[in-house]
Amino acid sequence: MRALVIGHRGMLGTDLMQHLAAGGHEAVGLDLPELDITDRRRVIRAVSEAAPDAVFHLAAWTDVDGAEENEEQALLVNGEGTRNVAIGAREAGAALVAVSTDYVFPGTGGPYAEDDATDPLQAYGRTKLAGERLAELEYPEGTRIGRTAWLYGAHGRNFVDTMIGLGSDPARDHVDVVADQVGCPTWTRDLCPALVDLLDQPAGTYHVAGGGSTTWAGLAREAYRLAGVECEVRDTTTEAFARPAPRPAVSVLEVTHEGAPRLRAWEDALADYIRERS
Ligand SMILES: NC(=O)c1ccc[n+]([C@@H]2O[C@H](COP(=O)([O-])OP(=O)(O)OC[C@H]3O[C@@H](n4cnc5c(N)ncnc54)[C@H](OP(=O)(O)O)[C@@H]3O)[C@@H](O)[C@H]2O)c1
Repeated sequence: MRALVIGHRGMLGTDLMQHLAAGGHEAVGLDLPELDITDRRRVIRAVSEAAPDAVFHLAAWTDVDGAEENEEQALLVNGEGTRNVAIGAREAGAALVAVSTDYVFPGTGGPYAEDDATDPLQAYGRTKLAGERLAELEYPEGTRIGRTAWLYGAHGRNFVDTMIGLGSDPARDHVDVVADQVGCPTWTRDLCPALVDLLDQPAGTYHVAGGGSTTWAGLAREAYRLAGVECEVRDTTTEAFARPAPRPAVSVLEVTHEGAPRLRAWEDALADYIRERS
């Protein structure tokens, strides 16, 4: 297959490029600064020139808190930018896999199946949901939306690394971590084959996140245990750890489509990540 990865220098994109190459696929990458997905004409031209069989759209405004004060700008990237990529893929006759988020859900009634009602709590989720809808509007027959969650990986700033960094500071004997949000930690390396497998599924919306679920505090504790970090994780609440963007309480993603890819348990993935990391 000839694949075009848009957003290939990001945390997930770097792993996806490596995964595609290792699988014998021809992988072409585009990202800022050479391609701004908000520029429709350039996107259409770039996708056409790449002549891909499949487009993996990963590029996004990913600063969840920053989106609160810049929703218009985030919408331009996550909404209109995704629409532009969908138009580009359609014009080029390529299948599209567009990555979205658990934050499209409000978190009050999770776990969530693929077709459960969305109702994002924050600007980031609203803009990503706009992207989902615009892609499906422009290219219903060719778009697979892959919603994922709580990503960590070797090529970007992430919660697991931050926690290990904090806990390894000899001057610190504990960290306070939010224990009232539940989600699906997902290693970017595990997500890559699942995104490729979505090409074998009919167009539609899929959940592709680590198996099982935990809290941020649970994730930090398991990371410390696996990495041998001796630092106490103390439970705290979302309320005590105020941030600009509200977060869903339970944004666990269920897989209900028969035959759709399923990722292994988050604990097993984390163990491999930490083994590789050290
Ligand atoms: N990280 C998570 O926990 C998480 C959870 C659920 C879903 N997701 C989704 O997963 C995907 C990948 O996430 P990630 O964590 O790998 O993100 P990332 O590391 O922030 O990578 C995103 C890439 O998109 C690029 N980009 C931003 N604006 C662009 C624009 N206008 N035109 C072209 N490229 C642009 C970024 O470039 P710059 O770095 O130069 O800005 C970056 O290279 C995103 O769609 C995200 O919404 C992430």
